[in-house]
Amino acid sequence: MSIIFFIKSTSVDISKYNIKDLPGSSGRLDVISRCVLAALSNKDIFEKKVHIWVFLENYGTFIFDSERFEYDIFPKNELLFSNYFVNLIRNRDSIIKLKDNPLRAVQISKIDIIGALKQFKELNYAIFVLNESGEDIFTHFKEFRSNKGLIFVIGSQSGDVINSKDLSAMNFTNVSLGTQSYLASSVIRLIKLYLIANL
Ligand SMILES: C[S@@+](CC[C@H](N)C(=O)[O-])C[C@H]1O[C@@H](n2cnc3c(N)ncnc32)[C@H](O)[C@@H]1O
Repeated sequence: MSIIFFIKSTSVDISKYNIKDLPGSSGRLDVISRCVLAALSNKDIFEKKVHIWVFLENYGTFIFDSERFEYDIFPKNELLFSNYFVNLIRNRDSIIKLKDNPLRAVQISKIDIIGALKQFKELNYAIFVLNESGEDIFTHFKEFRSNKGLIFVIGSQSGDVINSKDLSAMNFTNVSLGTQSYLASSVIRLIKLYLIANL
């Protein structure tokens, strides 16, 4: 069973990026970096069969599949990861400039989040939207077990995509981990814990 997290950011803007002020100078790229690290890492190894698709409104879609990276050289903290991700975004059309970037194996696509969701729906993946006001996630574990692949759409710091008209129109089940609002990266860790414990 593969687990894929989808996260979209409309705010990431690296035109004035400065590592000394990561959150403020990047439109909260830090939130995205924490989510990628939360999805791919499992203590001292990469998580198996967990991918994360990052939809950046200003730069395109970046697909992180741990099978394509070398764990030893992969940036494991938020600052280092963000620095390499900015370098990747700025030089995404130049293989030469990316030869020393440990993120160079990221797949880059122009597909938007709705287009990608339609594709996975056709592939019979079970798709759920993570929403504080959704249905209790535990009532859906039977569905989780019976599917070859799960997709969880998660909001960034503002959560705006979660309530967007386009996403609501696709009528995916909204699931909740309770009324408390967690950081997106914490939600990813909690989902992995629950699924690994219950599947
Ligand atoms: C930091 S929260 C978003 C901010 C929050 N919605 C707000 O309005 O301040 C990031 C995302 O994590 C997910 N999330 C946070 N807490 C959750 C919960 N208790 N159950 C399900 N998803 C949750 C949602 O997808 C949310 O959009």
